[in-house]
Amino acid sequence: MATLCNTSDLSFLLLLGIIIVLTQLTSQSEASSNYYISTHAVLSPSAPPLHRSPSPAPAPAPASSPASAPQPALHPLAKPMERRFLAMQGVVYCKSCNYTGVNTLLGASPLPGSVVKLQCNNTNSYLPTSITAVTDKNGYFYLEAPRTVTSYAFHKCKAYLVSSPLASCSKPSLLHGGSTGAALRPEKPIMVQNLPFMLYIVGPFAFEPQCSH
Ligand SMILES: *[C@@H]1O[C@H](CO)[C@@H](O)[C@H](O)[C@H]1NC(C)=O
Ligand SMILES: *[C@@H]1O[C@H](CO)[C@@H](O)[C@H](O)[C@H]1NC(C)=O
Repeated sequence: MATLCNTSDLSFLLLLGIIIVLTQLTSQSEASSNYYISTHAVLSPSAPPLHRSPSPAPAPAPASSPASAPQPALHPLAKPMERRFLAMQGVVYCKSCNYTGVNTLLGASPLPGSVVKLQCNNTNSYLPTSITAVTDKNGYFYLEAPRTVTSYAFHKCKAYLVSSPLASCSKPSLLHGGSTGAALRPEKPIMVQNLPFMLYIVGPFAFEPQCSH
């Protein structure tokens, strides 16, 4: 009987022990789950930004990468960048005898009838595209490149002084690259006969006078 009692006592104790252990385990798991939750709650201030980052990310992305993002964004507005035909203008002078060899237009006079050339290495062929224009009474010239040349290749173009109508003022000067080849400066988009052109500016150029002194 004592054995039975002992056995039942033992089994009771065992049962009790199991219950206690189970209870503790349960409470522990609750505690740990609480801890887990609270940890997340604590971490949440920093974690949500990570979780939300997919939505805020598109916003910071354009702001943090202005170099790449605005290009697609501004694409519809980037009309100066669109392919246009190429026009060029400028003025040609004859320099003053008072400033021969000096890079200045002080005292210079507009030179009508002088010839300016636009040359573009825009093709893969050996021959560059070349076109000339003659200045008017104000020394002003305007030309349109052949339609094979577009604004995309403007950096492959240079403008040169070619010839002067005056024997006494016929040496192309270095001023603004007139004698060596001048880079084209984009001025503004224009329409010519309903076609989109980009107008470029070069110069002003000048010829050196032959002076008697
Ligand atoms: C050149 O200089 C002279 C004397 O300094 C002056 O009288 C003349 O007006 C000048 N000419 C030009 C074109 O500047
Ligand atoms: C075009 O080619 C010619 C001949 O090679 C060269 O002298 C000229 O500088 C070139 N122009 C440009 C704008 O590269």
